[in-house]
Amino acid sequence: MKAAGQGAGRAPLVLALETSCDESAAALIRGRDLLAAEVFSQIAIHGKYGGVVPEVASRNHLLALRPVLEATLAGAGVRLADLDAVAATAGPGLATSLMLGLSLAKGIAVALRRPFIPVNHIEGHLLSPFLSETSGPRESVGLVVSGGHTLLVRIYGTGKYRLLGKTLDDAAGEAFDKVGKLLGLPYPGGPHVAKTALEGDPRRFNFPRSMLGSGDYDFSFSGLKTAVRYLLPKHAPVPVADVCASFQEAVVDILVAKTMKALRSEGVDTLAISGGVSCNIRLREQFTEACRVAGVQLLVAPSALCTDNAAMIAYVAALKLENGAVSQLEAEIEPSLNSARWLNA
Ligand code: KG4
Ligand code: ZN
Repeated sequence: MKAAGQGAGRAPLVLALETSCDESAAALIRGRDLLAAEVFSQIAIHGKYGGVVPEVASRNHLLALRPVLEATLAGAGVRLADLDAVAATAGPGLATSLMLGLSLAKGIAVALRRPFIPVNHIEGHLLSPFLSETSGPRESVGLVVSGGHTLLVRIYGTGKYRLLGKTLDDAAGEAFDKVGKLLGLPYPGGPHVAKTALEGDPRRFNFPRSMLGSGDYDFSFSGLKTAVRYLLPKHAPVPVADVCASFQEAVVDILVAKTMKALRSEGVDTLAISGGVSCNIRLREQFTEACRVAGVQLLVAPSALCTDNAAMIAYVAALKLENGAVSQLEAEIEPSLNSARWLNA
């Protein structure tokens, strides 16, 4: 099935839905121009449980999706009938959450007789820094640092990737969240650890920089989290700001060292950082400085596009359509979408 606007000389109008975890999001893109994007975050709802409760997440997607979709259409001044294609996140993520966005998107595609484009959530993060670049994805190294994933990827172009390394245990965001919990900070810990760290001394505690000399591009953050846990009883009352600052410094040091090494060995001069942890101010500062010294162009999306959103899903769908993607109505959710299946250029 061909997107209705294609061939008529007008870039296709694509609607994307994202419901992989606890954000209900919709976005509209025409060609590569983002027209509107809305996110309803369930953080306040899950906060009292200290983490995302899948059943609660899917129930709230059900409640939020329609208003989020309507607000997005109104924001762009378009009607459902104007759409040329519909996309949704297929995975990875929570099965019962993915199912809602994917089913709604497929239903709209069937009703309108438009192509349905499934999108990989991590590919969405990976390419999000290129959204504001007119040239689109180009030869680069991508670092995805989110709550569920930490990956270093060689990017050759849209759909052409090679996995360089990944975390062997906790994702970077997961480590932030677990340390936040240990310190009694609200869920999710990442932004609270970062805020508390502003008042702390990053050199007060010398936490381990795991796997720095491992000779590969894999990461490990669980030892760092354990080091924080063992330190706490020794320092009552706990110097929370110093723990946050020292922990954050260790995470950032590891990410910067491995990523800059990957850039050197791959011989590319563009770095694209994405995922929720790329909101982190200290991480942005350290990467900015390292890239300046190395003569590398740093691309980081604005914060609203770093955490989960549908704009990044719409962008990948638009790029896939440009490359001739056809409708995949038979696509199912893939909660544990294996990175090896799409990172093998
Ligand atoms: O990309 P994202 O919204 O969801 C996943 O796909 O996982 O990332 C969420 C993660 C959470 O672990 C959250 O704590 C972390 O990103 N995060 C941060 C910051 N803002 C969000 N971590 C450190 N510093 C921040 N400022
Ligand atoms: Zn995400």
